[in-house]
Amino acid sequence: MDISGRTVLIVGGTSGIGRGLARRFADAGSTVVVGGRNTEQVEGLETVRVDAPIPNPSSPPATTSRETPRSRRPRDDVGRMLTEDLRDPAHISQAEATIAVNLLGTIRVIDAFTRHLVDRAAGDIITVTSGIGFMPFPLMPTYGASKAGVHSYTESLRAHLTGTGVSVTELIPPAVANAGQEKLNPNALPLDGFLDEVVGLLTRDPSPNEIVVERAQPLRWAERDGTYAELLDRRSQPLNTLPGR
Ligand SMILES: NC(=O)c1ccc[n+]([C@@H]2O[C@H](COP(=O)([O-])OP(=O)(O)OC[C@H]3O[C@@H](n4cnc5c(N)ncnc54)[C@H](OP(=O)(O)O)[C@@H]3O)[C@@H](O)[C@H]2O)c1
Repeated sequence: MDISGRTVLIVGGTSGIGRGLARRFADAGSTVVVGGRNTEQVEGLETVRVDAPIPNPSSPPATTSRETPRSRRPRDDVGRMLTEDLRDPAHISQAEATIAVNLLGTIRVIDAFTRHLVDRAAGDIITVTSGIGFMPFPLMPTYGASKAGVHSYTESLRAHLTGTGVSVTELIPPAVANAGQEKLNPNALPLDGFLDEVVGLLTRDPSPNEIVVERAQPLRWAERDGTYAELLDRRSQPLNTLPGR
């Protein structure tokens, strides 16, 4: 994919991976607009305010003895990678918000542009999933489910748009040292190295179906490689850190 001389909108581009990619596209000579709620945290790029709607919690239990501080986190954590305790019914509001932002938000953003791109018979849509969408990390169950959902949706979208001139690419990051990952996972990839690898893969092929950096490959291909059960078992161990376990 040519990343120069393009017009690019990155929703979720006001921080982290999105903002880093935005700068790479801009440095290559593209016109870039980044979207998100906190547009004031972006300097040197055009911004647009985008706020994925978060539903009201659906009848959460008034109180529960197992309620953890995480399940009472404020709205602005939503859309990130959050842990949940599935033995605590209070997790449902977190689950609903995660699906609303990560899955429905993605679908809504794509819908806003699909007709236009198809009419132009040109353009590239890039979704962002995660290695966790292919290999669960059970401490983040709904986050993983949302990413598995975006993966499946991306595959269907590509089939729908075949022959239209609009390509669909899925970016599948591993843990990247950003958005709290650097504290949770000491092996998280430094952001700049990750972006270098992404841009290298993106520009190597006119319309790659998937961008899977080396560190993401064991997660992406665990089922094929016969390592799924062993990896899932290992990735389930941190459940012991939940209160009361
Ligand atoms: N970091 C990792 O280890 C990792 C691993 C695998 C996959 N990913 C995926 O990569 C993507 C970027 O992650 P990141 O690490 O760069 O996280 P980040 O720094 O927290 O960036 C998240 C972006 O999403 C926007 N956003 C969040 N909630 C929103 C809402 N309700 N409405 C509109 N925009 C919203 C944020 O903008 P505002 O705050 O301005 O609203 C921000 O621009 C995410 O899809 C994440 O799931 C990350």
